[in-house]
Amino acid sequence: MLRWSFWLVFISALCFPPWFGASYGKENPRKDDQKKEAENTGRTHYMGRTIAVTMHFTGAPWLVRESREREEECSTLLKALKLKPNDVVCDMGCGNGFYALKIAKLVPQGKVLGVDIQPEMLRMLRERARVSKLKNIEPVLGTLSDPKLPAGQVDLVFCVDAYHEFSHPEKMLKAIRKSLSKKGRLALVEFREEDPLVPIKPLHKMSKQQILKELIPNGFKLVEQFNGLPWQHVMFFSRDDAWQDPSAE
Ligand SMILES: C[S@@+](CC[C@H](N)C(=O)[O-])C[C@H]1O[C@@H](n2cnc3c(N)ncnc32)[C@H](O)[C@@H]1O
Repeated sequence: MLRWSFWLVFISALCFPPWFGASYGKENPRKDDQKKEAENTGRTHYMGRTIAVTMHFTGAPWLVRESREREEECSTLLKALKLKPNDVVCDMGCGNGFYALKIAKLVPQGKVLGVDIQPEMLRMLRERARVSKLKNIEPVLGTLSDPKLPAGQVDLVFCVDAYHEFSHPEKMLKAIRKSLSKKGRLALVEFREEDPLVPIKPLHKMSKQQILKELIPNGFKLVEQFNGLPWQHVMFFSRDDAWQDPSAE
C-alpha cells in the first residue's frame, strides 16, 4: 500500500511540476521568446543600406596587420581626434584593440572603454593591454543593441569600421547619444563608398550621404569633418539637443 502511494506522488510530480500552476492562465511564454528572438535577430537593412555581417574574431590579425598604418594613416586619424590627456574615450566595436591601445597612451589621466560584442575580441584586447602595461583600458562586453556605457560620461565615442555592422543601429545610436558628456562627440570612421579605388568590399563601405541620412534622424548633428585619410571618411557628430525622439511617448 505504501509503495503505491509513493509511486502516485512520484508520477504526479513528474506530470505536474511546481511551475505548472504558475504559468497556467498567464501569457504564453513561447510567444515572449519569439518576441525576444525577433529583437535579437536585428535588421538586415537600414534606410536603403544592407547591413554587413559582423567581422568574426578569427579575422582579428587583419586589424593589426603591419601595413595598416601605411594604408590607412592611423597616426593622422589619431591626431585629428584632438584628444585631451584626461578624456574618457569609448572605442566602439574595438575588436582586438588596435586603436584602444594607442588611444590609452594619449589619455594617460583618462580612460578607454573598449566595447565589443565578441568576448574573444575583448580577451585579445585584455592580453594586448597587459603586455603593453596599459592600466587605463576597460573592456566592456556589449550586446547587439546595448553597448553598456555609463550615461553622460564619454567625451568621445570613436567608431572605426564598425557602425556599418550594427544590426540595431537605432538602439545603438540612442545608447551612444545617452553616453555622451556635455562636450561629447561621436567620431564615425567608415571606408569611402564613393571611391572605387578603396580596396574594401562594398558592404563594408559607407557614403557620406548615407551616414548623414542615418545619423541626423537619430538625434545627431554634424560638427566637423576630416578629409585627410587615404581610405576613410571621418565625421564628427554631437548630440542635437533640439531633436525630439519620435519613439518617446
Ligand atoms: C571590422 S571590426 C573593427 C575593429 C576596430 N574598430 C578596428 O578598427 O580595429 C568591427 C568590430 O565591431 C564589432 N561590433 C559589431 N557590432 C557591434 C555592436 N553592436 N556593438 C559593439 N561592437 C560591435 C565586431 O565584433 C568587430 O569586432
